[in-house]
Amino acid sequence: MKIFKSIEEMRSACRAAKRADQRLGLVPTMGALHEGHLSLVRAAREQSKVVAVSIFVNPTQFGPNEDFSKYPRGFDRDCGLLEKEGVDLVFAPSVEEMYPDGTVTWVTVEGLSDKLCGRSRPGHFRGVTTVVAKLFNVVEPDLAFFGQKDAAQLAIIRRLVRDLNFPVKVVGCPIVREPDGLAMSSRNAYLDPQQRRSALALHRALLEIEELFHRGEGNPQMLICAGKRIISQESGVRLDYLEIVDPDNLEPIPQTTWGQPPKLALSAVEGAVQPSVARPPHNALVAIAAFVGTTRLIDNVVLNLT
Ligand code: PAF
Repeated sequence: MKIFKSIEEMRSACRAAKRADQRLGLVPTMGALHEGHLSLVRAAREQSKVVAVSIFVNPTQFGPNEDFSKYPRGFDRDCGLLEKEGVDLVFAPSVEEMYPDGTVTWVTVEGLSDKLCGRSRPGHFRGVTTVVAKLFNVVEPDLAFFGQKDAAQLAIIRRLVRDLNFPVKVVGCPIVREPDGLAMSSRNAYLDPQQRRSALALHRALLEIEELFHRGEGNPQMLICAGKRIISQESGVRLDYLEIVDPDNLEPIPQTTWGQPPKLALSAVEGAVQPSVARPPHNALVAIAAFVGTTRLIDNVVLNLT
């Protein structure tokens, strides 16, 4: 496993792999690796010839009062885990390497970046899309692997790739959970034993919503209320948001389109009124974020509407 700290060295190693016609898979991470990250690495291993992992705690995606300085870091442990998974290339640049003095350019996915976590963490997704665009430019991967746990991030990165024509296939990988259901996260390390128990309320709220939906509850507002009730019963947890949205554009799904077949709608094109097809989404993303003490956790489930 080769470890690079400079953009130039990482780029030439990646280009050498690509010159040899080897499919290159990238797993971007901020380190503090857990089984969730390793599942992305394993997916990359299966689907690519050369696997690259970036480890970079990206300051631009943290707000001024967030946990950038205390975010868990353990470079040697991370490298040990990646070596065992057969990773070929690790990119671990410094902040100065990624953002030299005078950097003023940002990549923003308008609209989507203000939804879900973007509403409560202004500027967060601008930092994510900027660093991911930079990583794509350095590594030039054929495939890039992201976890479904941050479903908004996944939707935003898919849109970034589409809108800016990055020649990379984005692969979303399922959420990995602890045996009791808590979604794996590097931030779980902040929780004390009592908070760790309280944190299970997020998963319980999602399970309740899933169950009600499968029993026939079709009103998104009723589902949201049921989930919020579960959260309110857990005194150590403060809800940030619980929303049911279209997983592609992160817009709330109105009850009128929930589970219905495509309908004919009228739209004006060059002065004439023509029929167009309004397609309701096939899936609904139920996304939750909540504070357990000062630790902000996220989780989600996807409901199949078809
Ligand atoms: O999901 C993460 O760990 C980060 O947001 C990412 C994609 C590595 C960008 O810093």
